[in-house]
This record gives sequence, structure tokens and C-alpha cells, in this order.
Amino acid sequence: MKILMVCLGNICRSPLAEGIMRHLVDQQELGWEIASAGTGDWHVNEPADKRSISVARQFGYDISKQRAKHFNRDHFDEFDLILVMDQNNLKDVLKLASGQEQRNKVSMFLPDDLEVADPYFDERLFEPVFLQIEARCKQLIDEIKANK
Ligand code: 4NP
Repeated sequence: MKILMVCLGNICRSPLAEGIMRHLVDQQELGWEIASAGTGDWHVNEPADKRSISVARQFGYDISKQRAKHFNRDHFDEFDLILVMDQNNLKDVLKLASGQEQRNKVSMFLPDDLEVADPYFDERLFEPVFLQIEARCKQLIDEIKANK
């Protein structure tokens, strides 16, 4: 299973999802590949936002070595599942898809069309966003394992 987490800048939300998911997947020795990317290219090659690194570290995850990448069309072939944080990410990713098979790989990260709020301009959101992403990563692992 290869999973790509996607947000806008690839410095706040999707690096958290990548780091948390990889940590949990490694703990369970599932052998899945986890990565993340942003629909925007402003932060390419930069580490995650300090506030994401910090909240992750507080809860026992190290995301400091991850670097931002820009989402591109090749990712549809490289990954089985592309999970996006909000409706704008969904629209931007689907714009680049060619064909139903590629579109079918894309889902919202949260169930029921819920969005993960962008914490970039609101410091107070980092901890709730972290907790929401961590809880969902645990659920996703169980769901994907059950569907095998
Ligand atoms: P992210 O947050 O999509 O969760 O990484 C953002 C980071 C940077 C910007 C926007 C959102 N930005 O405009 O630079």
C-alpha cells in the first residue's frame, strides 16, 4: 500500500499526516510507503512548519527530516491512495487527474467530507489539528487492513 497525504503548502497538515502515519505503519511492520505533497510549490524542499514539528515532537513523533514536495501528475501512478485535507486540495488534485482510475485514488483524509482546518494563520489550531490527524491515521490503518 502506498499512500500520499496532500495539503496546500506541504508544511503544516500533510507532513503531520505523513509522519504520524509512517510511525504507526512502522510500529505495526506493515511495510506501507507513506509520503506527502502540496498542491502549491512555495515551500518545496523546506522542512515542515516549526509549529508542526513542535506539536509532533510533543506527542512523540519526529517529522523534522521531511521536506516539502509539489504534487504532480506522476503521483497518480506512484500511489494507491491520495488523501487530501480540504475541498480546495480535492479540486486541485482532481484537476490533474486523467481518467476515472486516477480520480478513484483520491479521497478526503477525513470521513463524511469533513476538512482538516488549515492552521497556518492560526497558532491555536496546531494541537487540535494534530490530534484530529493522529486519530484519523489510526482509524485509516484499521480500515485499510480490514479491506485487504
Ligand atoms: P498546509 O498549510 O497546507 O497545511 O501546509 C499552509 C502552509 C503554507 C501556506 C498555506 C497553507 N502558504 O500560503 O504559504
